[in-house]
Amino acid sequence: SVLLPCYSDIQPEDPFLIWTRSDLSPNFVHLRRENDDDLKNQNQRFRNRTSMNPDALDTGNFSLTLRKPERFDGGNYSCSISKSVGSVMTAASFKHIHFLSVGQQEVEVTEGSDSVVLPCRTSSLLPEDTSVEWTRSEPEFMMVHSSSNQRNQDGFYRDRTEMSKDFLRTGDVSLTLRNPRDGDGGRYVCTVHRDQDVLRQTVVLKYVKEPFPSWASALLVLLVLVLIVSAGV
Ligand SMILES: *[C@@H]1O[C@H](CO)[C@@H](O)[C@H](O)[C@H]1NC(C)=O
Repeated sequence: SVLLPCYSDIQPEDPFLIWTRSDLSPNFVHLRRENDDDLKNQNQRFRNRTSMNPDALDTGNFSLTLRKPERFDGGNYSCSISKSVGSVMTAASFKHIHFLSVGQQEVEVTEGSDSVVLPCRTSSLLPEDTSVEWTRSEPEFMMVHSSSNQRNQDGFYRDRTEMSKDFLRTGDVSLTLRNPRDGDGGRYVCTVHRDQDVLRQTVVLKYVKEPFPSWASALLVLLVLVLIVSAGV
């Protein structure tokens, strides 16, 4: 999932909170009125994928959790708190979230390689507080690498991952994975949190086992020949 942050200390009476995306029709992503979600008019592509804290209107934390984000989820998300005054709706707070999602890449690594690079790029000169996470979602969720907190890293990847120390300047957040092994094949997601932007990129790593060595094939052919000849004799 991805968290679209939105906070406000404005507490209008009888408020309702709307997450929208103006490029869609209908444009409702999520709507909260009093303490209930009102999802009748929700755009169906977000069905069962959005949630907000149950006490959002009390705490002012209106952040939206969007589950199973996909490429088509990229866009501008707006969070607004409104108060209906007769027929006039007053937007008390407004915020844009850029949720960018870029395609998928495939990388191949052969058994016995020293390392493999999972490519991921974003813009250069990133803000100080940009953080990057490399995760896997299958066969189960795993934290592969986190630029801000390596304590959550899965033991399977301990001491095997590295990102360029210079990534804030270069925007190159590719991950080097050392000693690739059998369980490493699969889908990796690179998530960059930059200001209000969330950039996601998927890399599929194909792990190729060493084919039958050629000297072994030659020996096998020779053996068969010897057998045929000796059978003839
Ligand atoms: C706001 O809510 C989200 C979603 O539950 C949570 O992850 C986040 O930590 C909260 N933020 C604060 C400042 O409590």
